[in-house]
Order: sequence, then C-alpha cells, then structure tokens
Amino acid sequence: MRHLMSPLDFSVEELDRLLNLASDIKSNPAKYAHACEGKKLATLFYEPSTRTRLSFEAAMLNLGGSVLGFSSADSSSAAKGESVSDTIRVISCYADICAMRHPKEGAPLVASMHSSIPVINAGDGGHQHPTQTLTDLLTIRAEKGRLGNFTIGLCGDLKFGRTVHSLIKALIRYPDIRFVLISPEELRLPDYIREDVLRKNNQSFREEVRLEDALPELDLLYMTRVQRERFFNEEDYVRMKDFYILDKAKLTLADPDMLILHPLPRVNEIATEVDDDPRAVYFKQAQYGVYVRMALILTLLEVEVC
Ligand code: CP
Repeated sequence: MRHLMSPLDFSVEELDRLLNLASDIKSNPAKYAHACEGKKLATLFYEPSTRTRLSFEAAMLNLGGSVLGFSSADSSSAAKGESVSDTIRVISCYADICAMRHPKEGAPLVASMHSSIPVINAGDGGHQHPTQTLTDLLTIRAEKGRLGNFTIGLCGDLKFGRTVHSLIKALIRYPDIRFVLISPEELRLPDYIREDVLRKNNQSFREEVRLEDALPELDLLYMTRVQRERFFNEEDYVRMKDFYILDKAKLTLADPDMLILHPLPRVNEIATEVDDDPRAVYFKQAQYGVYVRMALILTLLEVEVC
C-alpha cells in the first residue's frame, strides 16, 4: 500500500506515468467513468478548502465511486479531542482511500502510520501540498509542452506557501530549470528549502524583491497569496498582503508567451483585469487538478483501466 506525503514519493518515471494517465483521462473521460465503482474516498479536512477537497470529490465521483468526509475540524470528533491516529483507524473501516488536510505539519504522515488505507496529504500546515504540485506539473506540461528548460518566477509568500515548497522539490528533478524567487525580505523562502534543496542540489536560483525586475526573463510566473492564516499577528499580514499586485500594466514587461499560474485562492495579488489575458492559466489549472487527482486515486488504489 502506498501513501502520498510529498511529490518525491514518486520517481520521475512514476510521475510521467501519472501525468500521462491524467492526460488520457482528460481526452477520454468516459473510459474511466466506472473505474472506481464500489470504492469510497474519505476527505478529512481540518482546514478550509475549496479546490482540493471538491476536486478530490469530483475526481472520485467522475470515476464512479462515492465520497464521505468532513470539511472542518469543528464538525468532526477532533473538536472533542480525538487524535488523528484514532480517527484514521476508524476511517479505515469506512473508506478505501483518504485525502487529509491539516494545519499541523506532519499530521497526514502520522495518519499514514496508523492507516490501513492509502492516505494522501492534501496540505499540511506550511509544509507541503503534493497534489497541488501534481496539478502544477500537469498544467505546465500541457500548456508549455515540456517539463524542463524554463525560467520560473515564484512570487509572493515564499515563507509560508506550501505549494511553492512542494513545487520546488518536484521541479529540481527536471533539466535546466532556473528559479527566480520573488518575495519581500520577511517572506523569503525558508532555509530548509533554499539551502537544503536548491543550494545542495546546485540548482540555479536568484532572489528578487521587485516583480518588475524579474518579469522580462520569465517563461512561467507562479503567483501566490500571502498566507494570512500562518501569520502570528494581523498587523504584519496587513503590511504584507498587497506587496505584489500583478496587473495589465506590469504584464507589458512580460514575454507574450509567459504563462501565469496560481494555486488559488487569489486575494489581491492578481488583478481581475488579468483574467482575460491568454497567458493567465490559473482557472485551467484548477480543472487540471481534477484529472490529476483522478489519476492519483487510480494509481494508489491500483485500479487499471484498459
Ligand atoms: N489550491 C488550493 O489548495 O486551494 P484550496 O485551499 O481551496 O483547496
């Protein structure tokens, strides 16, 4: 039995297979419509979510399976003090696979140690968000035509943004990728990613504060919101929240083929006037998230569709 805690849990070859499967699902949805009949997915969300939880549920329903779960800790017995390890033992009696989001780093890993069904990390604190990374990889591969040989700007809250941490770990395994890390000083990428992942792997990167200074050279721009829920005080959040706002005027500095990604939700960091720009692919990205989660469910449940 396999779990998914980090994008590195899959080799590059396994990721290729998963992304190929997701692409086939996109092209031939009817072929997969009954693949998970009789199977159940539990979504255990101790933290708010729109895309991840509902795209997992849509994925399982698209595969002919069923879903159950909770969308906040308050509506589960966590509110009475139940531990994650006890909860997963019980959920293992009710479902075949589970996706868990939790505010504490490592909580899904603890669950996987006590589970008799595959556990998927659907985001743990400021740590990792591997299924967003799968979504991002599929989006880049489908929209850019390749995974490698590009300059990617990661912009916003690089300190608390778990999607950025997971994406960097996944991308360093592909050839010729140059990272431009764009953030205010206080929201720089943490040392455990900059030094232990980028520097140790001799990965090309540089840091910028001004988005305008990076834009002209980027093939991809990955915008992120400032993660209000991870700040220790509201004052700091208010000071940081509008540090970056991508608008039409700034986009005149960018390459006509540069893609704009965002894991969403967006707050103010991309002006809505950008949404109609052909380079903006963040809503397509949310759609790719369904295909890739369908592929992930099939892979972890070892369901083969001929
Ligand atoms: N991208 C993402 O994780 O969105 P949600 O928080 O809405 O799940």
